[in-house]
Amino acid sequence: MLSNDDGKQPRTFGGFATTAACDAPPTTILGLLQELSHKVSRLENVLVGGSIAPFAGTKPVQKAGIDVVLGAQWGDEGKGKLVDLLSQDYDVCARVAGGSNAGHTIVVEGKKYKFHLLPSGILNPKATCVIGNGVVVHLPSFLNELDGLKLSGVEYAGRVLVSDRAHIVFDFHQQVDGKQEAGLGRHKIGTTKKGIGPAYASKISRNGLRVGDLQNWEYFEQRFRALAAAHERAYGEALEIDLDEQLAYYKGISERVLSMTVDTIDFTNAQFEQGKRILVEGANATMLDIDFGTYPYVTSSNPSIGSVLTGLGVSPSKLRGIYGTVKAYCTRVGEGPFPTELDFTEGSPGSHLSQVGAEWGTTTGRARRCGWLDIPQMKYSALINGFTSVNLTKIDVLTGLSEIKLGKAYKYKGEYLTGMPANLTTLGDVEVEYEIMPGWSEDITTCKNFDDLPENCQKYILRVQELIGVPIRWIGVGPNRADVIDRGEGWDLVTMDKSE
Ligand code: GDP
Ligand code: IMO
Ligand code: MG
Repeated sequence: MLSNDDGKQPRTFGGFATTAACDAPPTTILGLLQELSHKVSRLENVLVGGSIAPFAGTKPVQKAGIDVVLGAQWGDEGKGKLVDLLSQDYDVCARVAGGSNAGHTIVVEGKKYKFHLLPSGILNPKATCVIGNGVVVHLPSFLNELDGLKLSGVEYAGRVLVSDRAHIVFDFHQQVDGKQEAGLGRHKIGTTKKGIGPAYASKISRNGLRVGDLQNWEYFEQRFRALAAAHERAYGEALEIDLDEQLAYYKGISERVLSMTVDTIDFTNAQFEQGKRILVEGANATMLDIDFGTYPYVTSSNPSIGSVLTGLGVSPSKLRGIYGTVKAYCTRVGEGPFPTELDFTEGSPGSHLSQVGAEWGTTTGRARRCGWLDIPQMKYSALINGFTSVNLTKIDVLTGLSEIKLGKAYKYKGEYLTGMPANLTTLGDVEVEYEIMPGWSEDITTCKNFDDLPENCQKYILRVQELIGVPIRWIGVGPNRADVIDRGEGWDLVTMDKSE
């Protein structure tokens, strides 16, 4: 133990020895260093909000903040399920980017719900659901989804708020999406044809319309006519826009839409100030991000962490947990490179993942391409988003495979790559180095604790955790809300090291 110049016994704070007489300024270099480390420790505890094991002698500080669930791969990782599960404890659940290209399936007591625009938190009767300014909204789809809720017996009145700044996806945006895809032929992106790209293009071109524009009908009509005319000029006869029918439709729904339209920036920040718990439901995923994904085989928004700030209007200091959702293997719908992709030959692991995982798109019904978990891709995703923990889903789908491969590293022309290549030709040509792990055959769908899992399954999870360097807190063992192992808050890398 260190002793002070004045002979007093030191006490520990944050694992460091510090002066007992804290009130008196330190007078020696050692004293100054101790004081400094004391301050750094305090700062660390505030910043990490207790998500890292506390140093000896301190209590974890639980920081209030907005928690975020993000897709870490190419989408369909099971984000909706975690949001549904978590949102039972949240007051506000928000979508911040994308549109009805998202498809989130929730299963509660055997009943299936599919959401495209609505946050999955809608199933918590106490949660208010926010569609943030960064989302692009196809209003007919949005209203249909609300009507569907009513039919399912979910009461939503007063609980759904749409940002007045959210941009509108028009039917002609969807037509353009289809025509652009057709024009690309075999180079098509494989979009969902929900008009996402064309709507964001209108937003960026500054001739788009926002939900709040419905508040002033004359303005809406004038902007709508101008936008439609611009599209007609660009696409000519290929586009069918019935202006009168469209305008009559929007006039007809405006009262219903406006009854839910608010300044969601004001709303969300006020909720935060009142200490309400806020959860963000990411849509799409990091590898589909317009900046970070496999461009141009991406969506037209930023589904990674940045969209929480720009799509909701909250400051970075308000964020807390960033939960990366990762399928225990990998899937992708649409075109673009996929280094660990498997084929679907009968009896092959690819066919197993597709069939057992029921890998068909929630939005388009297309078969999802399947492959092994891709560690370089995961590390890249973790780097960009700063995941504080991971939600590892669909581990039950791996049951029955005699061996499981983990894509551990990329090699290009015999050299290991660090990072994710931007060049698609390079990414398309990488050689993946695999680590092979033994599988398990026991049914794990009823497991409630990590220790209940077969040894090989535990080993796989711990190995993934070790390789990506982020604690795995949730483990999905089936599609139902209840089919999840929660290792609890405080499950962290320090604990992981001990358990191995
Ligand atoms: P999202 O877009 O990320 O919300 O994911 P999707 O809903 O599009 O796709 C995930 C699919 O896997 C859905 O059908 C879920 O019901 C299902 N699912 C989620 N977690 C698990 C899990 O742990 N095990 C199994 N077997 N299915 C799961
Ligand atoms: P969730 O939220 C899977 C993919 C499309 C296509 C590309 C561009 O359910 O995880 P777009 O229609 O957005 O212009 O299509 O992005 N894509 C998704 N794939 N899950 C999603 O969302 C997706 N959202 C977009 O398949 O390859
Ligand atoms: Mg999905």
